[in-house]
Amino acid sequence: MEQVKARFRASLESALPGQEINLERPKSADMGDFAFPCFRAAKALGRNPAQLAQELAFSLAHQEGTEFAAVGPYLNLKLHPEVRARLLLEALLGATPYGSAPVHGETVLVEYSSPNIAKLFTIGHLRSTMIGHTLAQVNRFLGCQVRRLNHLGDWGTQFGTLLAAYKRWAETENPKLDQDFDWADESPERRRTQLFRLFQLYVRFHSEEEAQPEMRDEARSWFKRLESGDAEARRLWTWFREVSLAEFQRIYDRLGVGFDAMDGEAFYEDKMATAVQRLRDSNLLEEGDGGAFIVRLEDVGIQTPSLMLKADGTTIYATRDLAAALYRQATYAFDRCIYVVGSDQVLHFQQLFAVLGKLDPWFQVQGRMLHTPFGMVKLPEGKMSTRKGNVVFLEDVLDEAVTRVLAIIEEKNPELPEKAAVAEMLGMGAVVFFDALNDRVKPITFTWDRIIALDGDTGPYVQYAHARILSVLRKAGGTWVQMARPTQALSHALAAVPYRKESLPASLAGLEDPAAQALLFELAGLPDAIRTVQRENMATALARQLLSIARAFSAFYTNCPILWAENSPEVREARLALCVATARALRQGLFLMGIQAPEEM
Ligand code: ARG
Repeated sequence: MEQVKARFRASLESALPGQEINLERPKSADMGDFAFPCFRAAKALGRNPAQLAQELAFSLAHQEGTEFAAVGPYLNLKLHPEVRARLLLEALLGATPYGSAPVHGETVLVEYSSPNIAKLFTIGHLRSTMIGHTLAQVNRFLGCQVRRLNHLGDWGTQFGTLLAAYKRWAETENPKLDQDFDWADESPERRRTQLFRLFQLYVRFHSEEEAQPEMRDEARSWFKRLESGDAEARRLWTWFREVSLAEFQRIYDRLGVGFDAMDGEAFYEDKMATAVQRLRDSNLLEEGDGGAFIVRLEDVGIQTPSLMLKADGTTIYATRDLAAALYRQATYAFDRCIYVVGSDQVLHFQQLFAVLGKLDPWFQVQGRMLHTPFGMVKLPEGKMSTRKGNVVFLEDVLDEAVTRVLAIIEEKNPELPEKAAVAEMLGMGAVVFFDALNDRVKPITFTWDRIIALDGDTGPYVQYAHARILSVLRKAGGTWVQMARPTQALSHALAAVPYRKESLPASLAGLEDPAAQALLFELAGLPDAIRTVQRENMATALARQLLSIARAFSAFYTNCPILWAENSPEVREARLALCVATARALRQGLFLMGIQAPEEM
């Protein structure tokens, strides 16, 4: 397929010397496989685009098995159905994961999730976690060297507040926070309750300090004690951190997400002085109002200066981010660093990148530093019974999704083996897919029916298509199921047992039906969709393409009987091969998004 495309491009380049050749995908299979929009070239040559398309269709020499068609201002290249089927099946069934790229030297850091300790995971963290996970997977799939970073929020004056609150109430009042609580063994329910108690302490302190400003000094002095290594402050902080990490880890395990480094804000505690000194040495640090130290950024179009040191000399969030970026430069010598953080921090990252750019032009290289903001998640008011205050906890959402899916399974397929495990995969898949499908920067609202419907634009719909194929393959017997099932997880992708090229039937006439061709066309779109995820830093294109494949499969399944007794063996084999190819593509695509595909549902 790639070769056909490359040849098409080459012949256009020689027919239109000096013109930029950008190939697109036509809207559907009957229009062709590759489209060349003639607008730009026509304009440059002072020609009419439709005429140019026609002339090219006529004059370009086409290879066997392909034809050209001028469709308005587009020149389309169209493969003959058999050729299309063979080329795609060979690519889809080969040993190299379809759409992947060989390892190359580019190093990409993806920083994501980064929750704050002593708080519970909220639904907002799901977006960062899963978008980041997808970006990490996709970049690795496309041959990059990826480092997955979690910039844990484990430092800052809020821990002074928490310590003060803890000292005031937690050791004396009921319900008590239990320091002997065994985080490794106690039930998740209890763990969550404990963590939630910590969070409540923090909130309580904030509301009470309004009336008693002297409480602020108490918090400040606890932070000072923490910073200066006071044993009691350290002990408690370590405990807060550990309990939080145990809880986060459980959620990461559940989501199937991992990190290569969990260096949180505290990790940069001893690295900030050097960072600040570098600002000073470069004459970038200025004294601002009230004795704070700032970096002015008006000259690069940012009106708000970046605050680096508070008047009392203490560092802040931005100081730690500065130190972190310099540390990462030295440690990873990365090509790109992607920060997957909410859109409420746009200004923070603009400032950070601008300060870094002033410090070292290395940071100014186009694409080197990237903030990929995302919008908030909203829940329909009142619908979630588990809302506590105005935070929505991730686990509650996941649990509700799983419960709802389980109810559907109980109703539709009560005999299903391993119901609970399947419900977990579908429930998680539903939430994660919904999140991915939505434009990253727009706020999204959860509406349950739209998230879990088996027949809508949902994760379970894609998972269902995959399970349906597996059931066909099981019925077909032999080794079909094995071929669809990846046997080992490679470091950068799933590897399936390769289907041997030579075992494709000599004739693929069984795939000439328009429904089969439409499915092949959607499968052909997968590599582009994966590259779009990399380029746009959001998963939407992949989620959409998987839906298109699943839909096309459903039409193929309806229109082209697969195991029908009257099919010739060749037709049956060809259609089964397409089933295997589709199952692999769906599974691979879901895997990149961090979603599992049950084999039966
Ligand atoms: N901990 C922060 C929060 O939950 C996000 C950290 C984002 N990353 C960074 N390098 N500042 O809002």
